[in-house]
Amino acid sequence: MPTTEQDAISTMFDRIAESYDSTNRVLSFGQDLRLRAEVARFIPSEPNISLLDVATGTADLLITLCKLRPNIKTAVGVDLAENMLKIGHKKLVDQGLLGLASLQNADASDLPFERESFDVVTIAFGIRNVVAKERALQEFFRVLKPHGCLIILEFSMPERAAINKLYELYFRHILPRVGGWLSKNRDAYCYLNRSVEAFPRPHEFRKVLFNTGFTTVTLHQLTFGIATIYCARKG
Ligand SMILES: C[S@@+](CC[C@H](N)C(=O)[O-])C[C@H]1O[C@@H](n2cnc3c(N)ncnc32)[C@H](O)[C@@H]1O
Repeated sequence: MPTTEQDAISTMFDRIAESYDSTNRVLSFGQDLRLRAEVARFIPSEPNISLLDVATGTADLLITLCKLRPNIKTAVGVDLAENMLKIGHKKLVDQGLLGLASLQNADASDLPFERESFDVVTIAFGIRNVVAKERALQEFFRVLKPHGCLIILEFSMPERAAINKLYELYFRHILPRVGGWLSKNRDAYCYLNRSVEAFPRPHEFRKVLFNTGFTTVTLHQLTFGIATIYCARKG
């Protein structure tokens, strides 16, 4: 059952859904697509992969993975924001992916799937927005098959001081203004900055993944550390 805080977050995404993709392209200078494509490198190469993409939003990661990895046999995307899912669904239709991929409204911290249902669980720029993060990680662990893997793509704060300063300047001052102007919702892009700064540093988050029960956790920093991919294996 989503909490009030979680309701407020999904309502915010419902409000910005129409402009979400185009604002992402502008704010990231097109790099958001490249960062999502990096996730494909970590999808196992075995045949007939069943994949769950949590906090799928407008399904950009789901679509990228289905196109880049033909060994994905079934793909399900879940999100709490109905308007984000509607746009994602239209994109799946336009790309001819409906036979392979489907979307449903569900909470990351209360997934409507049997235990050991998926080979891979992915979540891009989403775990930061989940209020009950540890509960959600336990859910990812529960629905993964033995030896399955969780792949998380999330923003991170660059460690090198000069790049960190530039990143702070961009995230604190430029991004809320430009994002607010493009989406007509400045609060959403102030929230983006606050949620990135509040998210644990990669090495701390790695410990959280170990504490959830994942046995191997590797970190892969992208573009001077502005984003990190976490690959966590179950057993
Ligand atoms: C920044 S967007 C990322 C969307 C997409 N993964 C992408 O790469 O563009 C974050 C998404 O997380 C979703 N979200 C937040 N909390 C959630 C939860 N508890 N369960 C499911 N989705 C959630 C929001 O509705 C939103 O669509």
